[in-house]
Amino acid sequence: MNIQPALRVRQLPAGIFAELAAAKQAALRAGKDVIDLSIGSPDLPPPPAVIDTLSAAVRDTSQYGYTLLALPEFCQAVCDFYQARYGVTLQSDRHVVQVMGSQDGLAHLALALLDPGDVALIPNPGYPIYEASVRIAGGQVYPLPLREVNGFLPDLRDIPEEVARRAKLMILNHPGNPVPALATPAFFRDVVAFARHYGVVVVHDFAYSELVFDGRRAPSFLSVDGALDVGIESNSLSKTFNMAGCRIGYLVGNPDILAAYQALKGHMDFGLFMPLQRAAVAALTGDPAVLQGQVRLYEARRDALVSALHAAGWPVTPPPATMFVWARIPDGFTSRSFAFTLLEQAGVAVTPGDAFGSAGEGYVRIALVQPPERLRTAAARIGQVLQQTQPLTCPAALPGNAPPPWLP
Ligand SMILES: Cc1ncc(COP(=O)(O)O)c(C=O)c1O
Repeated sequence: MNIQPALRVRQLPAGIFAELAAAKQAALRAGKDVIDLSIGSPDLPPPPAVIDTLSAAVRDTSQYGYTLLALPEFCQAVCDFYQARYGVTLQSDRHVVQVMGSQDGLAHLALALLDPGDVALIPNPGYPIYEASVRIAGGQVYPLPLREVNGFLPDLRDIPEEVARRAKLMILNHPGNPVPALATPAFFRDVVAFARHYGVVVVHDFAYSELVFDGRRAPSFLSVDGALDVGIESNSLSKTFNMAGCRIGYLVGNPDILAAYQALKGHMDFGLFMPLQRAAVAALTGDPAVLQGQVRLYEARRDALVSALHAAGWPVTPPPATMFVWARIPDGFTSRSFAFTLLEQAGVAVTPGDAFGSAGEGYVRIALVQPPERLRTAAARIGQVLQQTQPLTCPAALPGNAPPPWLP
């Protein structure tokens, strides 16, 4: 029998990620030492207290029933975390919903909020589930380009009036993947004003809320006056606590938006494994020194990679946050040709920028998912490839992004 998947599945992009994975496999089979900087999966374990709580709860035979909803302790832990980390006051019984990782939340929000034909405003480049979720829901994507000249923030004034009027959803992600730009409170205030004016629901993906460098902090969207009226924030324990494989996260904010999500999700699953919820409570209520340790670790990786790439003749811009360098590629390549050249000739896997949308052309994303020494090796190998591909002009460091003082 010829099985034909539904149109909503057929229209999903097959993905450069599959192509890249196949090329990585081929390089490994050929005996190459591949340094994989293409996937943003944390390479470190969760804090010991989280593993202890998880393993104790797994041995407790009372923990194996359906959970249906989040434990009240989980919702309270999220509220306390938001108060302590972002100065945002939330009510645990109104403003928090649990998700199986933020991918789960983001994947289903568009289904819960959009009718076929509704317009969603999506960052380009952007994390792939934003666009996929809108397409699955039958919505129309209107891309918000993230341009260097605009500090990689969407320019809301560029959105045509008729698009703004039809828009029902806007997704934002700061600091983001693949573009690590931080939002400002002023930008978020403009977003709230725009959302109110046009009746647009805002979803801010805050998955990298805690991976912010150089003593800076990322503002929560909900810290801005009026945000709770128009939107929600999605957050996750995956990156903050290295819990990417034990899937747990949360949506916080406007109760009506959360209720729409819950109404849909109630038909799809029966809640998260109790031991995982208990482990998440241990993470959220644990020693904040863990968070500082994470920041220092990724800062050290960023500094190692960026300074080694500068020394190798590629002056990439150091990211202010996240686990990614968003690097303008040298002249003479496309994002894909550059990524595949690095894989084939340097044995270094990075992700071509256009995998995240058309405005990602001209960039690659390099994930800081290896120790500093390995990142320096990757940079040295990239430098050798760059020397061989003459003539070559590397992009100058960006104005306003002068090399930081820690560079040699
Ligand atoms: C921007 C962004 N949002 C969401 C996710 C999904 O994370 P998780 O489902 O593990 O919470 C990721 C994962 O890489 C991400 O980069």
